[in-house]
Amino acid sequence: MPYQLTEEQRQVYRETSIRSQLRKIELLQRHAETTVRRRLPTARLDPNTLMPGILPHGLTALSLFSGGGGLDLGFDRSGFEHVASYEVLDICAQTLKANRPHWAVNGGAAGDVINAGWRRYRGVDIVHGGPPCQPFSIAGRQEGANDPRNMWPQFVRCVLEVRPRAFVAENVPGLLDDKFAEFVTENILVPLSGRYTIKRFVLSADEFGVPQARKRVFFVGFRNRREANRFTVPERTHGEGHGLMPQNTARHSIGLAPIGFDSVVPTLRSGFTGPRKTTSVVNSKASMIAWNRLEIWPHGVQTTREQAAIYPPENGHHRLSAADCGIFQGFPEQWKFEGAAYQVLGQIGNSVCPPVAYAVAKHVAVALGAIE
Ligand SMILES: C[S@@+](CC[C@H](N)C(=O)[O-])C[C@H]1O[C@@H](n2cnc3c(N)ncnc32)[C@H](O)[C@@H]1O
Repeated sequence: MPYQLTEEQRQVYRETSIRSQLRKIELLQRHAETTVRRRLPTARLDPNTLMPGILPHGLTALSLFSGGGGLDLGFDRSGFEHVASYEVLDICAQTLKANRPHWAVNGGAAGDVINAGWRRYRGVDIVHGGPPCQPFSIAGRQEGANDPRNMWPQFVRCVLEVRPRAFVAENVPGLLDDKFAEFVTENILVPLSGRYTIKRFVLSADEFGVPQARKRVFFVGFRNRREANRFTVPERTHGEGHGLMPQNTARHSIGLAPIGFDSVVPTLRSGFTGPRKTTSVVNSKASMIAWNRLEIWPHGVQTTREQAAIYPPENGHHRLSAADCGIFQGFPEQWKFEGAAYQVLGQIGNSVCPPVAYAVAKHVAVALGAIE
């Protein structure tokens, strides 16, 4: 859907874009001609430390709507073995294959859940997935069941055909709005609660050490009531309070110098959101206040740290690289995303923060008796 802009606003955007492009060309040229190289910041946060690897415990997982692998990585690090992943976007499937060459990744038409038959996966312990959240997110205009991107019925069909011991589904917290109460009852609870005991809860990524304000709702279902009763909602590990680790803040996490202020970043926008291929991670106008206070420039995110350093914004703030955004989302730097900058930001901004996925997966493994 096109943006609603006046001709005057369009003209301002056009002029800004041309000025910015010219400046980029000039800076790149100057960089090519000079022998002095900047020292690039190195990240201080290694997200692997937020999800210490658990050895495989024998539980298997089937991943739907796998995207760039946030949920998958969290399950992987908590000891689950994936039997297959399904994702309709080729570029996401390429990311999964590049990082885990031994995974059975179905991408493109082969990864479209609409075409998939699930009975052959009977015996798999867990089905997990984050059906596209645009039908319930503000950016996606909240059309719910009327949105053709509503894939909840496909997730439910998979669970009913595979009959896993447990399932984990994730989505934007907007799904818990009163306006979607009927949708949740009809599309999730009614078809599944006859066979599964379902728990629903919201987790905040910053409370699990991720340097970003990001909330997600989880639906976790167990076929066995005793296992459901053993499941506990993961408790926060970071924040203020006794026994908690301090929040990981944004500037510190990506290795920037102190400026007397630091905090987590606002929720990152996905590069797949909206009609344009965007390299801005700004989610709302209001969030620009927070980015400005952090002295971080969230538009025109560059593919590499070097490229970002060569091309600082006019106000002198730190220009983001895709690597910085990966850290803000809780992805370890070893996890490489395939594709152009907007596709990388699309995969990052669509994902479940891996440390949050890890916490949920670990608690599911405990409930299923695979680990203590
Ligand atoms: C919210 S994202 C999931 C992100 C993922 N759980 C993660 O943590 O990285 C939803 C994904 O569903 C994919 N998708 C949408 N329709 C699909 C379909 N019919 N079959 C398979 N995947 C689909 C989208 O391409 C997108 O990558």
